[in-house]
Amino acid sequence: MLVGSRSSPRRILTAATVTSLVGAVFTLVLVLMPWSPSLTRHPRHASPPSLAPDTLSRNSNDIGGDKTRAKMDYIPGWPYGLKINEPDTCKDQDVYILNTITSNPSQVYHREMIRDMWGRESIAKQLKLRTVFIVGAVPSAVTQKHLQEESDKYGDIIQFDFLETRKNLTVKSLAAVNWFRTFCSNATWVLKCDVDAYVNFWALLDVLKPVDDTRDAVCARSMSRSVCREVTKGGCLPHYVVDPKDFSPNVYPPYCQGYAYILHQRLADRMIQMDQLRTGPPFWLEDVYVTGLLPRDLHPRWLDIRRRSQVVPMSVRPEYHDGTFLFIHDLEGQIGQGATNYVWLKTLEHYNVTL
Ligand SMILES: *[C@@H]1O[C@H](CO)[C@@H](O)[C@H](O)[C@H]1NC(C)=O
Ligand SMILES: *[C@@H]1O[C@H](CO)[C@@H](O)[C@H](O)[C@H]1NC(C)=O
Repeated sequence: MLVGSRSSPRRILTAATVTSLVGAVFTLVLVLMPWSPSLTRHPRHASPPSLAPDTLSRNSNDIGGDKTRAKMDYIPGWPYGLKINEPDTCKDQDVYILNTITSNPSQVYHREMIRDMWGRESIAKQLKLRTVFIVGAVPSAVTQKHLQEESDKYGDIIQFDFLETRKNLTVKSLAAVNWFRTFCSNATWVLKCDVDAYVNFWALLDVLKPVDDTRDAVCARSMSRSVCREVTKGGCLPHYVVDPKDFSPNVYPPYCQGYAYILHQRLADRMIQMDQLRTGPPFWLEDVYVTGLLPRDLHPRWLDIRRRSQVVPMSVRPEYHDGTFLFIHDLEGQIGQGATNYVWLKTLEHYNVTL
């Protein structure tokens, strides 16, 4: 440390000089970095720079090439460490999509359902898909014990050492993307979805494969929305009321529906780098931060699949399994228990899949 407790005035002066010098060098580095926000902001009419491979490989130390080094670089300490990890999930595997599912430790019912659907080994192999469940920490020793047993049995739980709270959901998604980058960076895409999201992976693959090189993310994109400052009858629910000290502008930038979105590895890498620049906690509305604020200055090439995402399903329709919809939110909650399994079986039938 430069400034000791018994520093003489001269040493303090030296320390101050060194500190400001370090500050200046840091600022310079920031400005020179290819992903510096100040350099990537473009006027509306200019065509945005794409995240094409050539611009991405500039920082060759941690992007592209040497996966071993990339693997060493992040997580263990990150803002939060790991309590349960499965470091070999993607080892020696050909993974196209890493599916990171955010859930809380007590959502066993939903996790069991997923293990029986695309979590199943035969399906995972066919689809080149790996599924992990990202959870936070809980104070209850009993819940932790059950989670540990579940983890021992299935080996698909990734638990981080931050408290499982609604306002930590942003941290949870960042944890998912960080984990992807450190332990499954071979995968082409990382899907973040909530545990109650139904995903038609066959339809999703049809969408993703042709855009591997041309799109950086696929999601149901929303337009700019105004920020809720108080509960209103018009739809500002208590959960969405935001204190100006957390977010001062009155509108959000465009962002993705948070229950399911998919990021290309080149974008995920950049987002992690961007996020390293953050001081203080990230804005707690997960979808707004992770798919709106964080990648904004990177100008990702989004593929908007808004018309193929169903947030409030009313009844089971053929479109839920025939490939029309890629993502459907909360089938069990909105339609009833068994709805997910019904749609799943229909999906298998439609795509002629045998388990
Ligand atoms: C990445 O892929 C290569 C070959 O495709 C494989 O040998 C290697 O084990 C993979 N790395 C990780 C970290 O999974
Ligand atoms: C998020 O988790 C951290 C670490 O456990 C905790 O200190 C903090 O209170 C949590 N934040 C919120 C907003 O719940």
